[in-house]
Amino acid sequence: MSFDRLWADLAPVGRSADSGGYHRYTWAGADTDARAWFTEAAAARGLDLRTDRNGNLWAWWGTPGPGAVATGSHLDSVPDGGAFDGPLGVASALAAVDELRERGFTPARPLVLGVFVEEEGGRFGVPCLGSRLTTGEIGPARARALTDASGVTWERAMADAGLDPEGVGPDPELLSRLDVFVELHVEQGRALEDTGHPVGVAGAIWPHGRWRMDFTGRADHAGTTRLEDRNDPMLPFAHTILAARALAEQHGARATVAKSLITPNGTNAIPSLVSAWLDARAADQATLSAVVEGVREVAERTAREHGVAHTMAAESTTPLVEFSHDLRDRLAAVVGARAAESAGPVPILPTGAGHDAGVLSAHVPTAMLYVRNPTGVSHSPQEWARPEDSHAGVLALADVLQDLLAVPGGVS
Ligand code: GLV
Ligand code: MN
Ligand code: MN
Repeated sequence: MSFDRLWADLAPVGRSADSGGYHRYTWAGADTDARAWFTEAAAARGLDLRTDRNGNLWAWWGTPGPGAVATGSHLDSVPDGGAFDGPLGVASALAAVDELRERGFTPARPLVLGVFVEEEGGRFGVPCLGSRLTTGEIGPARARALTDASGVTWERAMADAGLDPEGVGPDPELLSRLDVFVELHVEQGRALEDTGHPVGVAGAIWPHGRWRMDFTGRADHAGTTRLEDRNDPMLPFAHTILAARALAEQHGARATVAKSLITPNGTNAIPSLVSAWLDARAADQATLSAVVEGVREVAERTAREHGVAHTMAAESTTPLVEFSHDLRDRLAAVVGARAAESAGPVPILPTGAGHDAGVLSAHVPTAMLYVRNPTGVSHSPQEWARPEDSHAGVLALADVLQDLLAVPGGVS
């Protein structure tokens, strides 16, 4: 299957020799190389490649225009991320085109393969930035001003990549061309492993978001400053991390503090500033709000107790996504036609992970396929899908696309 060659060509791009994890950050070295890989693969297939105003890539099979069936995913990674999160959907989309052509299938409408920029928010902090810009979920002025860890703005980085940042913004014309979007993605849990199914279908995405917290204290000497004289921001920060965990347990939610910046980060100096990011997710909005407000309350109270200033602001929020039931059931029926009868119905899975498909779902009928991940691990070098399951994913995606492309328009 052509998937294997595509996958082998992409595998070294941005992979750390030490960890085996991936470092692909938007508009920078390895991400640029991965985009070049996609561009070449699209050209080799005679697809018409276009870069939209926000830097997302679109490779068209058929004349670009309304009524299109869209599929794809992203190529950027979290720091030291896995090989599959994003790229599996892109490589599978290309391989699905090959599969459909080998079948001799002629689409009744255009198919377009999309690659969204900055899905992970790994460089500029806001996840699904490419799809948020396209849909208008984030405004162009805010996006242009987002900075990476070195202070480089989205505007600067985009210009350095040879694109025009002035054009950034909502893209209703592009959206109006998309009749349906299907994203194939590696599963980010172990729900499929204990079933006979290599491929499942998405049900919902939990509401989630990222909040930046700044604890501003006073730098001083670690050896000479009496404990009662300190304004040490590490102390409320530590309380806040533990509170996030306790609140998540109490509410059956997820809350994580995985990124922090300590200034000036010296062993023998009390810090002047701790910046930290809360990632919180829950099955419903009320639970999510309860967790986030609980964290805010502990951060504020413990900051006050230690004479530390505290601010907390949302950097991105994503509401509950309930994928279209008609489309979801249609995909499940198509995928189920290949499944062993003994395996039972194709699993419909909820997830706590965010996706461009989730952002698009408010504007375009959208669905997702998940490919089994035996480790259940994601955002880590241990993320995995067996080769035979990746192949099953390509066939499932090809079947779904064939079903959708067989008629000139409409998704039901
Ligand atoms: C994206 O992968 C996210 O949910 O963080
Ligand atoms: Mn991810
Ligand atoms: Mn992803």
